[in-house]
Amino acid sequence: MQVFTIKSDLQPVLDKLRETQKSIGFVPTMGALHDGHLSLVQQSLKQTDFTVVSIFVNPTQFNNAADLTNYPRTLERDLLKLSSLNASNILVYAPETNDVYGSVITSVDFEFGGLEHQMEGKFRPGHFNGVGTIVKFLFELIQPQIAFFGEKDFQQALIVSKLAEMLENGPTIEIVPIFREANGLAMSSRNERLTAEQREKASLIFESLSQAKVLFKTESFDRIKETVQSIFSNHPLFQLEYFEIADAQTLESAAVLEPDRKYRAFIAVFADDVRLIDT
Ligand code: PAJ
Repeated sequence: MQVFTIKSDLQPVLDKLRETQKSIGFVPTMGALHDGHLSLVQQSLKQTDFTVVSIFVNPTQFNNAADLTNYPRTLERDLLKLSSLNASNILVYAPETNDVYGSVITSVDFEFGGLEHQMEGKFRPGHFNGVGTIVKFLFELIQPQIAFFGEKDFQQALIVSKLAEMLENGPTIEIVPIFREANGLAMSSRNERLTAEQREKASLIFESLSQAKVLFKTESFDRIKETVQSIFSNHPLFQLEYFEIADAQTLESAAVLEPDRKYRAFIAVFADDVRLIDT
């Protein structure tokens, strides 16, 4: 495993790989790596010759300054986790902000065909411009054949798929299933900031999605939404930010079932100031 902190060191190594027809897989992360991240890396190792893992807490995608400050930064532990995979074909890019943004930290405005206005886009203004800015930068730097994203951030995965289509040499995007803790809670770097009680009881998020899935067979969307809302109303530990049933392609909120369309449920919940999402 090789670790790079500046792009001008990484670039020639990638150029050499390309010259020798090696395929490059890419897993972008913000660090605080857990088994969910590692499942993306393992997919990439299976499907490509070399895997680049980026570790960078991207400031422009945080709409909340405290969330950016409190985001866990655990580079040494992350590198140990990656090296435990015993793969000599992993290249880590872990830059400082300056190597990515120079001295002025700004994001570009993107249009992703309306995907950016739904759910996370509504509740986290500017978030997807920040994600688009960093992912475009990384795609152009690394030029992978395949890039791996988690289903947990399903809206993000659709948005980067759109971005990849918009770019000249954009990668194929692979969406990897959600990796969960034993109690069903989707693994997330933010879980480390939960108290033991919150972490245990946050299984409620997955349970409410599972219940919604069962109700989907017989009940109206309104009825399903009311049920999930009632699970969280006046809850001592969790505040529901949104629960949505949306078209799985356009992510537009759906009110009634239409034949030939696929739907997906999305949820965002706060435990104190820690924001958790699932789908
Ligand atoms: P981060 O939250 O670190 O997630 C990196 C990748 O891991 C994302 O594709 C995310 O969906 C995936 N992931 C997170 N938890 C997962 C889980 N439990 N199971 C499977 N995959 C999981 O998402 C970002 O970083 C950033 O927005 C980024 C794309 C790196 C741009 O800054």
